Amino acid sequence: MKALVYNGPGQKDWVEKEKPGIQKPTDVIVKITKTTICGTDLHILKGDVPAVTPGRTLGHEGVGVVEEVGNAVVNFKPGDPVLISCVTSCGKCANCKRQLYAHCSDGGWILGHLIDGTQAEYVRIPHGDNSLYPIPEGADEEALVMLSDIMPTGLEIGVQYGRVKPGDTIAIVGAGPVGMSVLLTSQFYSPGRIIMVDMDPARLELAKQFGATDTVQVGSEDAVEKIMAMTDGLGVDVAIEAVGVPATFDICQKIVSAGGNVANVGVHGTPVELHIEELWIKNINISMGLVSTNTTPMLLKTLGAGKVDPGKLVTHRFALDKIIDAYEVFGNAAREKAMKVILNA
Ligand SMILES: NC(=O)c1ccc[n+]([C@@H]2O[C@H](COP(=O)([O-])OP(=O)(O)OC[C@H]3O[C@@H](n4cnc5c(N)ncnc54)[C@H](O)[C@@H]3O)[C@@H](O)[C@H]2O)c1
Ligand SMILES: [Zn+2]
Ligand SMILES: [Zn+2]
Repeated sequence: MKALVYNGPGQKDWVEKEKPGIQKPTDVIVKITKTTICGTDLHILKGDVPAVTPGRTLGHEGVGVVEEVGNAVVNFKPGDPVLISCVTSCGKCANCKRQLYAHCSDGGWILGHLIDGTQAEYVRIPHGDNSLYPIPEGADEEALVMLSDIMPTGLEIGVQYGRVKPGDTIAIVGAGPVGMSVLLTSQFYSPGRIIMVDMDPARLELAKQFGATDTVQVGSEDAVEKIMAMTDGLGVDVAIEAVGVPATFDICQKIVSAGGNVANVGVHGTPVELHIEELWIKNINISMGLVSTNTTPMLLKTLGAGKVDPGKLVTHRFALDKIIDAYEVFGNAAREKAMKVILNA
């Protein structure tokens, strides 16, 4: 089969590789039909995630059809269409028992990280019964690919950890696929005002189409000053960081109101300065974490009911064997006006 392989910093290749087989009775082999590229894959390619070793197939998102199942698998059979979760979970360990699948003792985020991932013709999914979801009849498969990672990330780590409530004023710093997923899922809770912050005017324009009430363009205006003025000096109920750099965390800690929440979603590679001398008196909460994808069943229902349309995040489509071209477009998202790319096998 063919797969997109990481071969060390800056080096990726579309190569012939052995088709994966069942290694454990709980494994499921999935034939990929649609996959995508995540910002995290770009981080890996830069060499920022040293746990990823040369030869690793990338990708942790996608949908497909079950090809083969191990003898302990009970929920799936060959031919079943499935959604792949970016987080693998056994369903039995102490952390799985409390739905903290991100910290499964035999799983977590391993796909395209510690084991071969989904940017290939076939992928082996460990603990298939718990790590795959059946695709409902007639579902929009492009929209479903957004449910592998970005939509549960936005909902769990941004909206739920940030405790977004009806009427709240919230700010989302970062209008990439993850920030946009926060924007879409925050609307389940009817916030009164949604302020989107980014430096890319095209992404801010898209955010308005997706429900942002206000936008702030970093670079051309002072984000903190503008948001404080917009909120009569009070700040926002929830400040959600969806970039992963010190500058954006800093905006969030400066705009949070008394009694508010800072929800950090971004993956950080360097320390940030926490202004506890300003914050201690404000009765705020700061949260952060890795997505568990425990909200996937809820998201499947909202998608099925037409309450949310993550398919509108898809801007570009390629054949799977043109994945190198897709990386070129996704890697130059601002120039290409790209949000999410779909690769069709
Ligand atoms: N916590 C989790 O479980 C989890 C899961 C998935 C992704 N993530 C992380 O979420 C973050 C966002 O992911 P993404 O795919 O949307 O990333 P992305 O790079 O596509 O988007 C980031 C956005 O931030 C904007 N930006 C960059 N610097 C900025 C600044 N100084 N001020 C304002 N805006 C700025 C960019 O223009 C871009 O639109 C990443 O750090 C990613 O690793 C976390
Ligand atoms: Zn991802
Ligand atoms: Zn587990």
